[in-house]
Amino acid sequence: MKLTRYRVMGWVLICAACTGPGEAPTTDVPGEPLPGLTDSERARFLLGRALFERLATPQEGLGPLFNAERCSDCHDSPAIGGGGVRIPVLKATRFVDGTCSLLVDGGGDNIQQRATPLLVAAGMGPEEVPSAATATARVVAPPLFGLGLMEAIPDAELARAADPDDEDGDGISGRVAYMPDGRSARFGRKGDAVTVADFVDTALRFELGFTTEDHPTEERRNGVVLPRDVDPMPDPEMDAATMRLLTDYVRLLAPPAPERLQKGPVADSVRRGETVFEQVGCARCHTPVLTTGEAGEGALAHRIVPLYSDLLLHDLGGAASDVCTPQAAPGEYRTAPLWGLRYRRTYLHDGSATTLGDAVTRHGGEAANVIQAFGSLGEGDRAALLRFLQTL
Ligand code: HEC
Ligand code: HEC
Repeated sequence: MKLTRYRVMGWVLICAACTGPGEAPTTDVPGEPLPGLTDSERARFLLGRALFERLATPQEGLGPLFNAERCSDCHDSPAIGGGGVRIPVLKATRFVDGTCSLLVDGGGDNIQQRATPLLVAAGMGPEEVPSAATATARVVAPPLFGLGLMEAIPDAELARAADPDDEDGDGISGRVAYMPDGRSARFGRKGDAVTVADFVDTALRFELGFTTEDHPTEERRNGVVLPRDVDPMPDPEMDAATMRLLTDYVRLLAPPAPERLQKGPVADSVRRGETVFEQVGCARCHTPVLTTGEAGEGALAHRIVPLYSDLLLHDLGGAASDVCTPQAAPGEYRTAPLWGLRYRRTYLHDGSATTLGDAVTRHGGEAANVIQAFGSLGEGDRAALLRFLQTL
């Protein structure tokens, strides 16, 4: 438990009361299961990981339209379950007069880049960007570490930090992403999935081309129904029990612990950087710590979650604008959690920033004042802030 880290951030009251159950359940090696799992939870994690890494074939349900042959083709850096930039997902949407269309009639917002040999033999290739699209984005895969903890944070915690009408006048108006049925959506880079299970269902269908019990109908190619004989496996191609194993693997992945530093000048500079992070206003969106409530597994319940995100949508302005969802306008993105930042090599949803300084200065919109304050920092404070980010 890194008491000092939280003390600087003003969380001493929470952490002073921390006994075992309150601790942040991180691991030093990325890709490991949460500490404190029962034997059967650990077994589910291992079975789920095997599915996550398994190359799927068209005979088992892959495709006919797909983007990759297994989850870990995209989520493998710095370890299985992490992020990845090798195979970005191409998205296309239409945003006109304040209304977002996912272009469902044209094949949906996820433009599948590959087709199985049977589909190609039937004269159909991968999908194309529909001409009705007003924006495209190449979205890179975020790391999945700690998602079960993120799921176990009560809705009320998120709602407490939201300030949709900017009543405190600080220029920052984060809001909870709500689905049309009123449930809050904290997963996905634009807040479009309520639970990990919902996102896994989406990933199976759109990235691998598997039909599921909740969605047993095969995707259409740019809106055109596929010929029957191109898809050998009867639907649904993945049963609910297998999907639950995959989901539990993702839910039980531990977040990586921050770098442990020996006392000395580097540690002092990092502490200074952490203070600057808060003073300059980064922490207003990148909330250092949230806490979980009840959860199915003891390892997830009542834990400190050092994720550095409020899990709210913020408008970062024109430079960050691209695709939309019904919940989020083109410029709106969920605050990227910063835990595990030192393992990433590119930043932002499309991986378009290659240095941390670049990632920061690309924030606009609601973050404009904070980024201006960042720009006025002296050389020492700026370096300390960036060094602090590199410990996460
Ligand atoms: C072709 C690359 C690719 C493949 C294959 C892929 N993903 Fe992803 N994954 C992404 C991208 C890109 C995102 C972010 C998309 C977004 O938020 O709009 C993402 C997001 C996620 C998220 C949400 C993360 C968050 O922070 O909210 C989960 C969960 C997830 N993927 C699980 C899986 C699982 C399970 C599989 C296998 C069934 C899988 N992914 C396969 C690219 C991929
Ligand atoms: C108004 C809210 C807000 C403020 C203030 C803010 N950020 Fe962000 N930050 C975001 C959002 C939203 C994203 C995700 C953008 C995207 O996905 O393209 C993000 C992304 C990032 C990323 C990229 C992370 C990744 O995994 O790609 C870094 C690094 C970052 N912010 C650091 C900072 C620092 C440092 C500060 C203070 C100088 C700061 N942010 C202030 C909302 C904010």
